[in-house]
Amino acid sequence: MTPGSVTWLPDAPGTVTDLEVFGSSSPMRKVTEQVAFDGAWDATRRDKVRELFDGMAAEWSSRFSIERAASITDALDRGGLCGTKIVELGAGSGLGTNEIAARATDVAALDLSMDMLRQQSGSTPLVQGDASTLPLPDASVDTLVLVNMLLFPAEVDRVLGAAGRLLWINTNGHETPIYLSPEDVIAALPGSWAATAGRAGTGIWAAVDRV
Ligand SMILES: C[S@@+](CC[C@H](N)C(=O)[O-])C[C@H]1O[C@@H](n2cnc3c(N)ncnc32)[C@H](O)[C@@H]1O
Repeated sequence: MTPGSVTWLPDAPGTVTDLEVFGSSSPMRKVTEQVAFDGAWDATRRDKVRELFDGMAAEWSSRFSIERAASITDALDRGGLCGTKIVELGAGSGLGTNEIAARATDVAALDLSMDMLRQQSGSTPLVQGDASTLPLPDASVDTLVLVNMLLFPAEVDRVLGAAGRLLWINTNGHETPIYLSPEDVIAALPGSWAATAGRAGTGIWAAVDRV
């Protein structure tokens, strides 16, 4: 693949293009862009984000829908997990976690919010932590999965091995509050990357690999 390129697969059957949600005006959109491009993350912002998601944890799973889940299953099926050591960051209450665990054996899930992790079902090992300082050695992960999660480019680059993959998923497409286009994900990451991308249900995904 050519460095910086995004290869779009055909839309999955049933892809929804006229979204009736407006997450692009959410304050989290600005936070997402500032974290990815300016490294704008400190203890104050971390605590605010944790409190925000702690507060939404109890009702978070009521937001799930078949249309939102479709982009996760499509990303896992047509994008795919690479290698065996899989870590999900910002796993929340588990919209993606059990789907990932159904396709791999060595999976762990991390989130800043303990209240979100308490909503998880399933047997995936869960870790409370901050994805800006991952408790993982360099080059120790084959695939990182981020579903509606902030991108910390330096940590993604550090923990992914040479053949590592970032599976980036926005379940409400460009109207997801925490959204970056596949092109922006590549631009934010240090080094040379390219992506295969797709749309399914209400979402967009990108399998981003080093080149
Ligand atoms: C929009 S929610 C998405 C949750 C889940 N992936 C989903 O799609 O339903 C974002 C999640 O990322 C977590 N998060 C935000 N910043 C984080 C950080 N620095 N480290 C780890 N998790 C973080 C939040 O606590 C929250 O659970």
